[in-house]
Amino acid sequence: MEQDLDARTAIVTGGGRGIGQATAEALATRGANVVICGRSTDALDKAQSEARDAGLNIVSQPCDVSSPEDIAELVGVTVEAFGGIDIVVNNAAFIQMTPLDQVSVEEFDQTFAVNVRGPMLLAQAALPHLKRSAGASIVNISSVAVAMGGQTMALYRASKLALLGLTKVMAKEWGADGIRVNSVMPGKVDTADAAIEPEMVELAKLATPLGRLAEPGEIADAICYLVSDHASYITGATLTVDGGVSF
Ligand SMILES: NC(=O)c1ccc[n+]([C@@H]2O[C@H](COP(=O)([O-])OP(=O)(O)OC[C@H]3O[C@@H](n4cnc5c(N)ncnc54)[C@H](OP(=O)(O)O)[C@@H]3O)[C@@H](O)[C@H]2O)c1
Repeated sequence: MEQDLDARTAIVTGGGRGIGQATAEALATRGANVVICGRSTDALDKAQSEARDAGLNIVSQPCDVSSPEDIAELVGVTVEAFGGIDIVVNNAAFIQMTPLDQVSVEEFDQTFAVNVRGPMLLAQAALPHLKRSAGASIVNISSVAVAMGGQTMALYRASKLALLGLTKVMAKEWGADGIRVNSVMPGKVDTADAAIEPEMVELAKLATPLGRLAEPGEIADAICYLVSDHASYITGATLTVDGGVSF
């Protein structure tokens, strides 16, 4: 495996399972120091011990990305451990299925606090360190659900569209500081959650030209590409990784 991220330090939110865990492992495999965060310390401990078994050095820090205080602590712990921050992957997300006409103020605030405000606050807090990095990069994980889907996941879709907008604004504002900011838009991914809804999985496979779900590692590979020097002139872009489902 190419050690193209050697000596870089990455924060991955929601790194305790699913796409975030796969991304943390992929970044560490390429040589990065990785700090994962999430709310469940059990999930973080499990991910950390699985990484250790695989010979990877991944550090964890409990953090609810809807809490500005937690985010400040996450950044502080990362900088204390590794001396800086080069890569931020905003992966943690809150999904709710309430139809739009029934959405409450609390659901709205919670969805946007996790899916939009959290990524912005983490990027803000990491900014002084990213400015000092020679390979600074932020990747925000959106979803192909912004381009498809019916009447469910209304707020989730709106928040993921907002995250695409935030990505472009960050790319424009911070490009002069050498910070690249991009989005990844996954299609349906074969995470533990997918197993809970087998009918949805079959429908997703039928609708996808490649005829299968993505493996979490395939989304992680796209993220690793975007944060690497191979993508040194790519910023403000959205990389769709969906097996063709949104064509
Ligand atoms: N899976 C898919 O098919 C799919 C498709 C398109 C896009 N995506 C996007 O890809 C990303 C990862 O998806 P996934 O399926 O891997 O998700 P997942 O398995 O549900 O994992 C979500 C992760 O985010 C963490 N998290 C949730 N709320 C958080 C909060 N407030 N603060 C900190 N961490 C929080 C969770 O940990 P705790 O619960 O311990 O906090 C968990 O580690 C999300 O942005 C999702 O929208 C997924």
